[in-house]
Amino acid sequence: MTAADVFRFIWAWTGDPVRLGSIVPSGAALSDAMTAEIGADTGPVLELGPGTGVFTAALLRRGVPERNITLIEYGSDFVRLLQVRFPRARVLWMDAAHLARHRLYDGAPVGAVVSGLPMLNLTPRKMIAILSGAFGYLRPDGAFYQFTYGPTCPVPRPVLDRLGLKAVMATRVLPNVPPAAVYRLTRRGPRRPI
Ligand SMILES: C[S@@+](CC[C@H](N)C(=O)[O-])C[C@H]1O[C@@H](n2cnc3c(N)ncnc32)[C@H](O)[C@@H]1O
Repeated sequence: MTAADVFRFIWAWTGDPVRLGSIVPSGAALSDAMTAEIGADTGPVLELGPGTGVFTAALLRRGVPERNITLIEYGSDFVRLLQVRFPRARVLWMDAAHLARHRLYDGAPVGAVVSGLPMLNLTPRKMIAILSGAFGYLRPDGAFYQFTYGPTCPVPRPVLDRLGLKAVMATRVLPNVPPAAVYRLTRRGPRRPI
């Protein structure tokens, strides 16, 4: 992360703190934690709210081919930067709540979704749109990774229940400022007949 990225981020935050959710980009420890279970064999990866691309760079370090990465960013300030920085990735300037309105993939080939979205700032309605859109592209064994600075999972239980999802805390990232946690959201298994 460069000093220019930090400045860019702070500048964007002053214009729209709710969209940004954080005043500086995530650090290396959080980027590593968010991508720890992802690698070259994960297949297509969908990243929501990449900002300056700290998680994208971590995905590349994990061996994910750049052409397998799709970046969904709402801030026009970051879209151009991402296009220059990751020329072989697919960079889409759109609201992550509209994922289901577009046909981003044929079927559901995605192995992992990495979300830098400020989940705690979203309404339940928007959260549901984002999660149902993302899970619509995820393979049955795929996972959605979300970080939070809060003490519990940022997706409330009623939203998880409604979408048939479960959330498990994968890692706590104490070296991050502020300390963060990474949650892994997956589909609940099929119910067994009693
Ligand atoms: C907390 S920042 C995280 C940026 C980066 N992933 C990081 O960890 O440093 C949130 C990012 O999500 C983007 N964002 C917020 N709402 C969005 C939405 N509805 N659709 C797509 N991107 C969104 C913001 O523009 C910003 O880049």
